[in-house]
Amino acid sequence: MAVHDRYVAVNGDHPMTAEDDAYVREHFVPATPEAMALMLDDLLPLPSYVLHDGTPMVPAAHGRPAEIAGGVDRLHDWFVAFWDDDTATGQREWLHYLSGQHVCLREVSPVRIRQKTERVAEAAAAVDLLRQDPHDPVARGMLGEAVDGVLAVPGLDSLLLPMTAYDRLRFAGPTVRERWVDAPRREFLTPATPTWPLRTERLVLRPFEARDADAFVDAWASEEWTSLLLSRQQNPAEVREMVRRRTEPGDGRFVGMAVEHEGAVIGDSMLHLQGTGLSEGEIGWTILPQHGGRGYATEAAQAVLRLGFDHYGLRRIVANLDARNDRSAALCERLGMRRESHKVGDFWSKGTWTDSYEYALLAEEWRARA
Ligand SMILES: CC(C)(COP(=O)(O)OP(=O)(O)OC[C@H]1O[C@@H](n2cnc3c(N)ncnc32)[C@H](O)[C@@H]1OP(=O)(O)O)[C@@H](O)C(=O)NCCC(=O)NCCS
Repeated sequence: MAVHDRYVAVNGDHPMTAEDDAYVREHFVPATPEAMALMLDDLLPLPSYVLHDGTPMVPAAHGRPAEIAGGVDRLHDWFVAFWDDDTATGQREWLHYLSGQHVCLREVSPVRIRQKTERVAEAAAAVDLLRQDPHDPVARGMLGEAVDGVLAVPGLDSLLLPMTAYDRLRFAGPTVRERWVDAPRREFLTPATPTWPLRTERLVLRPFEARDADAFVDAWASEEWTSLLLSRQQNPAEVREMVRRRTEPGDGRFVGMAVEHEGAVIGDSMLHLQGTGLSEGEIGWTILPQHGGRGYATEAAQAVLRLGFDHYGLRRIVANLDARNDRSAALCERLGMRRESHKVGDFWSKGTWTDSYEYALLAEEWRARA
């Protein structure tokens, strides 16, 4: 009862629905009587939730920090040492930890608490900058790190639990995830649909339609034409399925385009949006054999580079290719892309280890050429 009263004093008295209970049972466990006694002595955090039937619930690893610290009596000193540069903040964080209200975190530990605080501050600063310029490359990097993380830096998407409707009541507003993952992802990390079609002097680039498959059937049947592509030869049914899949609405990160000349499909282009803050694109291309050698691939790729840099605000566009693909490498050079790597024997393709190239172009380099 005493624990329950302390819990209500911290969180207010809000109803837990059946859905809230189900959510809490999925992510938390009942507190033990020993843990409850330690809570009353301010040695362990209060429950994170109290179910509809009165069961106090805590994170599964509720007692783990005390074990790591060497016992509950050492927990405070061990905990605040993570803020040795700022003891006042350390003490404030300790009190907040004892309140049991770190319910947004998958793992309630000082390291995760600091990481969450840092990532939220980074996301807030990035959002301010992106409201002024949605293509700001530094802000895209910051937001990408804050939301999705970078290598050893975990982002909020992996640090945070979803939380539940009860939390919106007790914290009087959206959940941390809604505010710092879902909203910025929707506003700044979701690709906006371009205005189709793209037009160049001789070509039209547009989203795929199912009927486009017919144009690709012969090329994909050719062993020679497919030899330096990742996929093997495809039979007509496979080609139709490949094109049909490209007509499905996805998350907008894979932008596949049919390339038309005088109303006939002569090849395709693609741009795959990726990287921190979705600020890098990988470009790809094919031109049907009977239409090669006339500069169509170059002209289509220039339109895709413009789409990437101007519309999607990319910072960098790369092309990855089998190093034996001389025509593709020549195309990269014509586009002004820089060969940044020649990896030796790194690439497994169609039964053999081969070399690969990565070409790249930065937005400022492209603008300087334009
Ligand atoms: C890679 C691929 C798209 C390159 O096609 P391509 O025909 O060499 O490229 P382009 O359409 O830009 O044509 C360039 C050629 O046209 C010539 N050309 C003529 N008019 C031109 C113009 N207006 N602008 C540029 N080039 C022109 C160029 O001089 C060049 O000639 P060259 O090959 O004798 O040097 C094509 O070979 C292909 O689809 N291959 C199979 C699939 C594949 O490997 N895809 C790439 C996977 S990484």
